[in-house]
Amino acid sequence: MKTTRADIEEILQQLTLDEKISLVSGRDAWSTKPIERLGVPSVWVADGPHGLRRAPETYLPGFGDQWPSTCFPTASALAASWNVDLLKTTGELLAKECLAYGVQVILGPGINIKRSPLGGRNFEYFSEDPVLAGELAAAYINGVQQHGVGTSLKHFACNSQEQNRMVVSSNVDERTLREIYLTNFEIAIDKSNPWTVMAAYNPVNGDDATANPFLLTDILQTEWQYDGVVLSDWVSVHLPVKAIKAGLHIEMPGNDGVHVDEIKLALETGALSETTLDDRVRDSLVFAFKAHEQADPTAHVDHEAHHQEAEAIAADCFVLLKNDHNALPLTPEKYNSVALIGEFAVKPRFQGNGSSEVKETKLTNLKDELAQQISVPMSYSSGYRLDDDHDTSLIAEAVKQAQQAEAAIVHVGLPQHYESEGYDRKHLHIPPAQVALIEAVSQVQANTIVVLTNGAPIDMPWHNNVPAILETWLPGQAGATAIAKTLTGVYNPSGKLPETFPVRLEDTPCFLDFPGLDRKLNFSEGVFVGYRWYDARKIEPLFPFGHGLSYTQFELSDLSISSQKVTQGDALTVQVKVTNSGILSGQEVVQLYVHDTDSRLPRPEKELKRFAKIQLAPGETKTLEFELNTRDLSYFDEQQGKWLAESGDFEIRIGNSSQHTPVIGKFTYESAEVLPLGFDVRTTLREWVANEETKPIAYDLVKDFFMTMPHEIVGDLWDFNIKNDFFMD
Ligand code: BGC
Repeated sequence: MKTTRADIEEILQQLTLDEKISLVSGRDAWSTKPIERLGVPSVWVADGPHGLRRAPETYLPGFGDQWPSTCFPTASALAASWNVDLLKTTGELLAKECLAYGVQVILGPGINIKRSPLGGRNFEYFSEDPVLAGELAAAYINGVQQHGVGTSLKHFACNSQEQNRMVVSSNVDERTLREIYLTNFEIAIDKSNPWTVMAAYNPVNGDDATANPFLLTDILQTEWQYDGVVLSDWVSVHLPVKAIKAGLHIEMPGNDGVHVDEIKLALETGALSETTLDDRVRDSLVFAFKAHEQADPTAHVDHEAHHQEAEAIAADCFVLLKNDHNALPLTPEKYNSVALIGEFAVKPRFQGNGSSEVKETKLTNLKDELAQQISVPMSYSSGYRLDDDHDTSLIAEAVKQAQQAEAAIVHVGLPQHYESEGYDRKHLHIPPAQVALIEAVSQVQANTIVVLTNGAPIDMPWHNNVPAILETWLPGQAGATAIAKTLTGVYNPSGKLPETFPVRLEDTPCFLDFPGLDRKLNFSEGVFVGYRWYDARKIEPLFPFGHGLSYTQFELSDLSISSQKVTQGDALTVQVKVTNSGILSGQEVVQLYVHDTDSRLPRPEKELKRFAKIQLAPGETKTLEFELNTRDLSYFDEQQGKWLAESGDFEIRIGNSSQHTPVIGKFTYESAEVLPLGFDVRTTLREWVANEETKPIAYDLVKDFFMTMPHEIVGDLWDFNIKNDFFMD
């Protein structure tokens, strides 16, 4: 039965002060506190995000002894699908696993912006772009929540580094915060309203994210009108009173009452009001009852069916980085024999380290799966050892086998210990023995195809030596099956990079500012994160944001824009045609970027605003339609404290990668805002003049000032300098 608002108020009235205080902390590792005498249920929360890590009991840690559940591809892979429907499906499957295991909230998705490719937890995050991350998160959340299971959108905010993540303050100017690090959360909250948001470990601009009035009160509650529950990341509350006041609802995990005295004292001295405490408790009560509304004790998961789904999901995420002379797919007509090389082919790396680790229900490997898919002879050699980055003793055998075959598949990437929650990477390299292997094999075998497994970008000094590279990320428990079927053309790759792959670490946006030391991390590259940086600095990446090939080809044409002149408040509709001009069925991701031709502030060369993934049969054409609004043209103006789109010319650039936008349309935007909007003692003459309303006032004031001065002193200053410079258009 649904609990009404009136029921909640009645329960709130009946709670003792001690009970209320007890509710601002969890009960144990994975559950919130129940109040049995009033029927307030406990909520079971569990990691998340790409599978369920359910401990046997809520008080057990759940590492090693977690219940088996389907391991889907991790977030960096899912994001590479650019497929909102796929993210929704993944969410729905996860919800079913939660229902079957009696878990009410899955702790995900994680959507922190990938500021540096070195971030140890990048495999658990979506993208370097806020629109892509926000849209995918919303789809995932809607998928989970439509089955009556909650999510926790994490980690709010600016948690883009692992090293010293509990103490290093992310120092970010407001424009950058708004445009990059909050827009992803804003989109997800607006489009999916997650039941909970998880406040991050790190301080932001000096204030703990769990006790941050700017983030939790001003932005989340007031501006975005978020009415769900804010959980703390696990063991991140140092200032409980400030946290409650700022907007934190539940400290996780349960803290055994260590903060009770401090909270009581604050209530006694008036530092914390009971009304504020009530506000937090009220939301938590609503949450606790809602979490049990759809609990289904008979829910059951068909793990075999979910395994099949995990395979199809993985296949949608793979990015074909390179495919010279159609080296892929493998067909018997092209290659009469194949050498498979790499220990990953028998010991797959399919997920990342840390709190998101799922105990899979089943695991496939590339050696077995490829053997099933191909009809020609296949040899196997390991080529390297996963437990020794430098041992090159296995290369000679791999080279011999590669020489004897017509194509070599070399499966390499980042071993488990290279990337993890809890620490960051120090470089972009894969183990030296694997690099040596690729170099040696590619010298003897022209058809060397590299299959990568890694949660984050790597450098590839060898990329020119090989005709094909397939990025498969950390593809989950059925990933190897999807890889085998992609290599052989059963699946046509359709993923696009959700983050830039740089040539070298020194090219990356925050090379000089990562990781943050001395407890501060200055986001000095500002809004120029990811492709925004490479565009601005004209640095050629190894593979750009949005890039990804297919076994077929697509063409974009016939861009039309609803109006060449757009005034503020008008929607702008953009249409474009996509044609599959190849001979295979496939999916294309169409990406729409906005370019502001002339801006007062430095702006990125282009910014992703819309995207769509579309399936097309050979020869088929479809028309896509995108709608844009004023916010899509805006930057955040710190001085005015608001989003602003300036009057002037804009371009819509549409393509299939951030560096391939062949279809371009132009329009002129007319703003109704008169700038600047606010004045103070530091407002400059130019700013007064920029505003049509204050321009005449400024003219009179300045002219009067010069007229009072003797002409011998000011000379022709007024007539020839000030008037011409400032007031003549
Ligand atoms: C992680 C969270 C996770 C929580 C519970 C924390 O260390 O940052 O993402 O949900 O632990 O495992």
